[in-house]
Amino acid sequence: MSSIIEDELASSSVIQRVDRLDFDYVPEELPHRDTQLRMLAQLFKQTLKGVSQNAVITGPVGSGKTAMAKKLCQELSKVARKKGSILDYVHVNCRKRSTESMVLLAVLNHFDPRFPDRGFSVQEMLEVLKRQLTRKKTHLIIVLDEADALLKKSGSDLIYDLSRFSDESSQQQMGVSLLLVSQHDILRLLDDASISTFKRSNRLNLEKYTRDELFDIVSQRVELAFLPGTVQEDSIELIADIASEWGDARFAIELLGKAGIAADHEHTDKVVPEFVRAAKAETYSVVTETKLQNLNRHQLLTLDAIANRLHRDGTAYLNTGDAEKMYAFICEQHEEKPRGHTMFWQYLKDIENAGFITVKKSGKGQLGTTQLISLPDIPAEIMHQKVNEIL
Ligand SMILES: Nc1ncnc2c1ncn2[C@@H]1O[C@H](COP(=O)(O)OP(=O)(O)O)[C@@H](O)[C@H]1O
Ligand SMILES: [Mg+2]
Repeated sequence: MSSIIEDELASSSVIQRVDRLDFDYVPEELPHRDTQLRMLAQLFKQTLKGVSQNAVITGPVGSGKTAMAKKLCQELSKVARKKGSILDYVHVNCRKRSTESMVLLAVLNHFDPRFPDRGFSVQEMLEVLKRQLTRKKTHLIIVLDEADALLKKSGSDLIYDLSRFSDESSQQQMGVSLLLVSQHDILRLLDDASISTFKRSNRLNLEKYTRDELFDIVSQRVELAFLPGTVQEDSIELIADIASEWGDARFAIELLGKAGIAADHEHTDKVVPEFVRAAKAETYSVVTETKLQNLNRHQLLTLDAIANRLHRDGTAYLNTGDAEKMYAFICEQHEEKPRGHTMFWQYLKDIENAGFITVKKSGKGQLGTTQLISLPDIPAEIMHQKVNEIL
């Protein structure tokens, strides 16, 4: 019986595995991060023999810092298990735990979930950790994610103590490695003594993702999380376009998830570009009435033509030739005489500069000058309504 219910619940959504759209989920493969993962693996190779290593990962939001740190730790402990050595890791988010005791408590709770959350000084907690690791002969990698939060609030003492943890010990296996993760360069927040342990070579800086990289990342997520055939390719293209402004994989995946939910709301199993635009509008309500008020009548008519066509066709892009035909048609409806070709191009430029549309060269155009117009910020239908309120 229960499988019938499961079937029914699953079939009502284009999203098959909602957990795989979660920000905590780390896919098996991380497209376009091979070189960087390889570098991390080289850096941390020695931890398998119990040799401590300290490193820093920096990069903008959504560049894959957290995912890389998790992937590295998962793979290392997997290999360690095969080799019969003991390697463990804890991932601590310092934005949520920004004091030394809170960070240490998270580490100790990993070994003993009932370790009391008060009554121990930082020094005592460090002692307890040392005893735990010695007893278990474990090498522990501590990931301090968003480490700048800890450094700003509590200084670098704990990082210093942890980075020196192994020196004092005579035990071979037992020790601590540190992986600091931060959006900004954090070395300047460390004191001189700690900086020397985070040598220059132990820094990995991740760049923001390019549009094409985002396309691949979103495509992978579509395969992992969506029912086959539900997400149209031009929806993925549009998501990549939108998120490429920040190069942020998190934002791209968020858009994908929201577009899926929008499709569910409409009881359709096709995630079309219109749902991507809706997802973006939900996240950023970029277009304001005042911005539209600044457009003149023919600029508005041009914008309306584009919104109309994109909505009617259900596509992500519209070529300029079709846009111009639609513009003539819309002008007629509003009893306006359409302006000439040159003026039409000027209107396109104007509304592009105002941020309402984007225009890019077509990759596959037969004509050299074919350009594709896209409406990335807002559902075409809503744009059409808003423009018509003014017209
Ligand atoms: N190369 C990649 N391949 C697949 N998914 C990725 C990749 N990089 C990041 N992600 C996904 O994007 C989201 C944000 O990544 P995250 O590692 O949290 O970024 P950061 O920590 O740099 O802000 C997560 O859902 C993550 O799984
Ligand atoms: Mg992160």
